[in-house]
Amino acid sequence: MRSFYLTTPIYYVNDLPHIGHIYTTVVADVLARYRRMSGDAVYFLTGTDEHGQKIERAAAKEGIAPIELADRVVERYHQLWRQLGISNDGFIRTTEERHAAGVDALIARLTASGDLYTARHEGWYCTGCEVFYTDKELTQPGNRCPIHETAAEWRAEDNVFFRLSRYQDRLLAWYDAQPDSVRPASRRNEVRTFVESGLRDLSLSRANLAWGIPFPGHPGQTVYVWFDALANYITALGFGQASAPLYDRFWAQGDTRLHLVGKDILRFHAVFWPAFLMAAGLPLPTTVWAHGWWLRDEKKMSKSVGNVVRPDHLVERFGVDSLRYFLLRDMVFGQDASFSDEAFVDRFNSDLANDLGNTASRLVTLSRNAFGGKTPPVPCDNNPVLEAARRAVAEYGAAMDELAFSRALEALWRLLAEANQYIVAREPWKLIKSEGPSDGLSRVLWNGLEAVRIVATGLLPFMPETAPRVLRAIGVQEIPSTLGALTWGGLPNGAELPELQPLFPRIDRAAYLAEVAPTPSTSTARPAGSESKPMISIDQFTQIELRVATVLTAEAVAKSEKLVKMTVDLAEETGPRQIVAGIAKAYPPETLVGRQVIIVANLQPAKLMGVESNGMVLAASIEGVPVLLHPEQAVPNGTRVK
Ligand code: ME8
Ligand code: MG
Repeated sequence: MRSFYLTTPIYYVNDLPHIGHIYTTVVADVLARYRRMSGDAVYFLTGTDEHGQKIERAAAKEGIAPIELADRVVERYHQLWRQLGISNDGFIRTTEERHAAGVDALIARLTASGDLYTARHEGWYCTGCEVFYTDKELTQPGNRCPIHETAAEWRAEDNVFFRLSRYQDRLLAWYDAQPDSVRPASRRNEVRTFVESGLRDLSLSRANLAWGIPFPGHPGQTVYVWFDALANYITALGFGQASAPLYDRFWAQGDTRLHLVGKDILRFHAVFWPAFLMAAGLPLPTTVWAHGWWLRDEKKMSKSVGNVVRPDHLVERFGVDSLRYFLLRDMVFGQDASFSDEAFVDRFNSDLANDLGNTASRLVTLSRNAFGGKTPPVPCDNNPVLEAARRAVAEYGAAMDELAFSRALEALWRLLAEANQYIVAREPWKLIKSEGPSDGLSRVLWNGLEAVRIVATGLLPFMPETAPRVLRAIGVQEIPSTLGALTWGGLPNGAELPELQPLFPRIDRAAYLAEVAPTPSTSTARPAGSESKPMISIDQFTQIELRVATVLTAEAVAKSEKLVKMTVDLAEETGPRQIVAGIAKAYPPETLVGRQVIIVANLQPAKLMGVESNGMVLAASIEGVPVLLHPEQAVPNGTRVK
């Protein structure tokens, strides 16, 4: 068995995942599933990048410890990956002990190779990137980061440096000798040009940063977050442990070591990481493969820019597999793509509802009617669909091996189109009437269903939940686990055809677009899916009295899982008020005391499970899970919010 190790970037925990993170992870999942079906021994890794200034600051903003923020966001990642059917074999957090041990072991090797030294470090720093930039790289005016467009900060400190400059020639030799080292080829050229223009030594530590791994042998220095992060690809396999069978199998002696990354972080993976490994005397990745960006309004979708599309609404509305399909079909792997609601609906309706769903259901209905609820009794013969299927399967396989996912899907859809043409030309709906359940009719329907079976089999890595449903709907009882099932002839004859369930109910395009359309005054940063509602005037808004209050006491409401009864101080002459809020699941009562919250102060009193409530506490709601709002710094109770 060939070994196939593939990784996603480990994601920052400063915010929740959006479509961009989901894209890389789904791509990796599709590839992992495909490789397993092809018989490889696969290890698929993802994880989270939890150290560094960016996370430290995000946590400080919320007034919590960095690890609390990390624990919360990582839970959301776990949930999301489960929900999206991600089949990762490993998950690494850089705050784990095993990771720190591996980082120490890697640094020990760099120290031994004589590649580390201490020196003064000055330059422009972007916390968003966690990177020093040169004057020339910044955007003017304002010394702004070329990626985040926010002002970079001037830093001057003593750091531990890595002699990156020593590795220039060896890196160039690697790109030249291994055409697959960096892909696509255009990216390899880009990286090559960068390295050829000269490499400066790289600082591997930060002073004055508490949140990270202490730099071994250099008190007061913390390991640079990018070094810490890149090391995950081997620490997750056990590098640095006394015994590391996964590391031996998938890295040291592995056949494929593939890093999937967005183009934003190519340099780290295609220049720095291989140089670290060279210095450490360890094997390099076989391939660093960079994909493009999902854009929204011509800009990279990014947490820092705030123009992100979150998956929740799309998944809730159209199902996980529709989102997976859309992401893989609409982006040419390697290039940028724009996300739009129009494109999403159109893809869904034309590819899934119409081409796949209708073809399958038409054939199932005809077969059930003609052959007593069963698949056709007579199997394949030589016919144009068989030829089309052989071509499609060959194209599909070649495209999958090249990570050309949209091309692989196109090949399957061409087969669907050809099968449809064949069926339309044979007019089985007329044959049913003229011939009854004849052999001729059986062959026509069988060929059509067999094409659908091959398409659904090819879709298994893409749509792990829906493709099996399509297969069962056409009479396949056992869901295949190998690519052998792409061979023509697998549909059973005379097998029970279950009653048809709608696979992809058509979306009402106009209604959906009206529902998600931006209202004139909302910015383009509004996430897709927030509903358009009638506007209110400023006067109407000022009628709502929002005020800051401090929670004095809090206790659970008897017999309720959700409700908390609180007294809050609004600095009112009438004394503290009682408020009931449905936040107990996310906030146990004892965690609320002493917090500042924001209250709707002029809400009519109401009774919740018999307990009187005089106002309402504001919280953001993520799938029904509340996240309380509070002023960014403590303010006097009763302060108006407007
Ligand atoms: O960079 N389009 O983490 P990160 C496509 N922790 N892909 C996108 C995207 C977009 N608009 N936005 C993000 C980090 N991605 C580091 C990585 S690895 C050792 C450390 C995807 O949370 C893409 O894969 O900013 C990108 O490279 C990654 O998320 C960056 O995630
Ligand atoms: Mg980023």
